[in-house]
Amino acid sequence: MNVLVTGGTGYIGSHTCIQLIQQGYSPVVVDNLCNSKKVVLDRIEQVSGVRPIFIQGDIRDDAFLKSVFDEYTIDSVIHFAGLKAVGESVEKPLKYYDNNVSGTLRLVQTMEAANVKSLIFSSSATVYGDPASVPIKENFPTSATNPYGRSKLMVEECLRDFQHANPDWSITLLRYFNPVGAHTSGLLGEDPRGTPNNLLPFVAQVAVGRRQKLGIFGNDYPTPDGTGVRDYIHVVDLADGHLAALEKMAHQPGTHIFNLGTGQGKSVLDMVYAFERVAERPIPYEFKPRRAGDVAECYADPTYAEAILGWKAKRGLNSMVEDTWRWQSNNPDGYGD
Ligand code: NAD
Ligand code: UFG
Repeated sequence: MNVLVTGGTGYIGSHTCIQLIQQGYSPVVVDNLCNSKKVVLDRIEQVSGVRPIFIQGDIRDDAFLKSVFDEYTIDSVIHFAGLKAVGESVEKPLKYYDNNVSGTLRLVQTMEAANVKSLIFSSSATVYGDPASVPIKENFPTSATNPYGRSKLMVEECLRDFQHANPDWSITLLRYFNPVGAHTSGLLGEDPRGTPNNLLPFVAQVAVGRRQKLGIFGNDYPTPDGTGVRDYIHVVDLADGHLAALEKMAHQPGTHIFNLGTGQGKSVLDMVYAFERVAERPIPYEFKPRRAGDVAECYADPTYAEAILGWKAKRGLNSMVEDTWRWQSNNPDGYGD
C-alpha cells in the first residue's frame, strides 16, 4: 500500500519511513530538501533494505503535486513537510504561513482532486500555548504564542472545517510533544542546520565538542529544580504512533486528535545529567535568562492514544539519550555536506 510521506527525508519523516517499510507499506517520499539531505535515502535503505520512492519537489507546486498523484496510487498521506523554527517564524511570519498553511491547503486540494481522503498531520503541543495545568489532555483550550504555533493551529482549524464539510474524509491530527533520539542503528538522527534551537541536539553537540557550553534558559521556573519541564519522546516511538494512527484511523471518517507524548515530564537538568552519564563526560552549562515564549511545564496525558490507537511510548530516557549519543558520536557533523 502506497503512503505519500511529505517531508519524508526530514527527522521524523525518515524514521517513520523505516517503520512503514518494516510494516509492509511502500512510502512515496516528497521533499524539497530545504531542511534535509538526499543521503537520508541511503540510510533508510541501509537500515530497512528498501529504498523508498523519492520525488524532489515542493508541496506548494500544484503541477508537481498533481503529477505525483497521477503517477502513484496513493492510499493515505502522512504530512510532515513544514518549517519548524520558532524564532525564524517570528522574524519571517509570511514564510511560515505560506509554507505550513498554504502548503497544506494545496496538498489537501490535490488530494481531493485525486480522490485520496485520508490524511495524518504533524501538529504540535505548541497548540496548547501556556497550559493552565499538566498533564495536558486533547480537549484543553488551544492558543498560539508565535507564528509557527499559529500556523499549526490554523492548519488544524482549516482541516477540521474541511473534514466537517467532507464527512467521508479521515483526518488525524497528531500533537507531538518533544521528539528526541535517533535510530538505534546510529545511521539516522536529527541534523539541525546552524545552531540548534532545541535542547537535546545542542547538548549532543556540546558532548561531541562542536560547542563549548550549553545555555540553560531559566532556573527560576516553578518546577522541582527551577528549569523547564518537557515531555521528551523517542522519535521511533513517535514514528510508531503514526503507524498506529494509519492502521486504526486512516479509514475511520472523522477528525481525530491525539497527543503523542510519554506522559513523563523531565527538566533541562534531568536531560543534562542523563547525557553526562551516557556520554561519560561533563556537559558544561551556564544559566541564562528565560527564553521568550517558553512555558514552565508541558507534558501530555497520553491515555487517549493508548485507548484508541493501542499505542504507548515504550522507550525511556536512557534509550533516548543513548541513541542520540550513538548518532552524534558516529556522525559528528550529522549527514555532512
Ligand atoms: P524536518 O525539518 O526535519 O522535516 C521537515 C521536512 O519537510 C524537511 O525534510 C524539509 O526539507 C521538508 N519540507 C519543508 N517544507 C517543504 C515544502 N514546502 N515542500 C516539500 N518539502 C518541504 O522537521 P521534523 O522535526 O521532522 O518535523 C516534521 C513535522 O513535525 C513538521 O511539520 C514539524 O512542524 C512537526 N513537529 C516537529 C516537532 C519537533 O520538535 N521536531 C514538534 C512538533 C511538530
Ligand atoms: N532549552 C535550554 N537551552 C537550549 C535549548 C532549550 O535551556 O539551548 C530549554 C528550553 O528553555 C525548554 C527545554 O529546554 O525548557 C526544551 O526546549 P526545546 O527548544 O528543545 O523545545 P520546546 O519545548 O521549546 O519546543 C519544542 C519544539 C517546538 C514545539 C514545542 C511543542 O521545538 O517546535 O516543542 O511541541 F512547538
